[in-house]
Amino acid sequence: MIIIKSKREIDCLRRSNQIVATIFREIKKMVRPGITTRELDGEAERLIRMRGGTPAFKGYKPMGYRSEFPASMCISVNEEVVHGIPGPRKLKEGDIVSLDVGVLLDGYHGDAAITVPVGTVSEEAKRLIEVTERALYLGIEKAKVGNRLSDISHSIQAYAEGNGFSVVRDFVGHGIGKSLHENPQIPNFGPPHQGPRLRQGMIFALEPMVNAGAWQVTRLGDEWTVVTADGKLSAHFEHSIALTDGDPEILSME
Ligand code: MF3
Ligand code: CO
Repeated sequence: MIIIKSKREIDCLRRSNQIVATIFREIKKMVRPGITTRELDGEAERLIRMRGGTPAFKGYKPMGYRSEFPASMCISVNEEVVHGIPGPRKLKEGDIVSLDVGVLLDGYHGDAAITVPVGTVSEEAKRLIEVTERALYLGIEKAKVGNRLSDISHSIQAYAEGNGFSVVRDFVGHGIGKSLHENPQIPNFGPPHQGPRLRQGMIFALEPMVNAGAWQVTRLGDEWTVVTADGKLSAHFEHSIALTDGDPEILSME
């Protein structure tokens, strides 16, 4: 079942997602060669709490996992796709780094992700970042009453693959609200015109993960860090959006 949110609930979701948006504005400025991923995470947590929120990922334990996620941000560098754990690793010139933030405020969740270059990066890395972000926006454009869920999925896949990249199959977008992950699951691939019809008041976190090489991924021994199987680069963008009677509202954008 897909939970439809009231106007009041959408106001709450907007507030939690606005915290996420401001975190990115601040953390982006700190991304430079030499900074550790742990420093970025610490600052994100401080900023979330300063605004009255709680880091939604910290302590999160999906079904079947033995460990809780230990940090406020997922930070995934280069071939890391998602769920990288912040630590002593120093970013270096030429890296690309994905930052994923979740915030809980007054019972409602915010969730978004960006991928940013560290200094000057390769042409391919730049193109991967651009294509992944554009794929997200094309998906958002399909999030309209009258369309069906997989219209979003299909448009993301068509654009990413049309640009010579591949989309990750093992992780998907999701509904979001009182829970970080609600129905429906929203794959970033698939045929168009399938699945539930879209309705006003649905809230989705759309999050394409796009690989420079093949779509296959594996998980590291820390149980969390997802990496590309072929070791090539991966990028990730995510927005939480509200479906309206017109264009979707991007809740996690300033
Ligand atoms: N944006 C990711 C997701 O929706 C982040 C979850 S990280 C976790 O799955 F630590 F909370 F698992
Ligand atoms: Co998400």
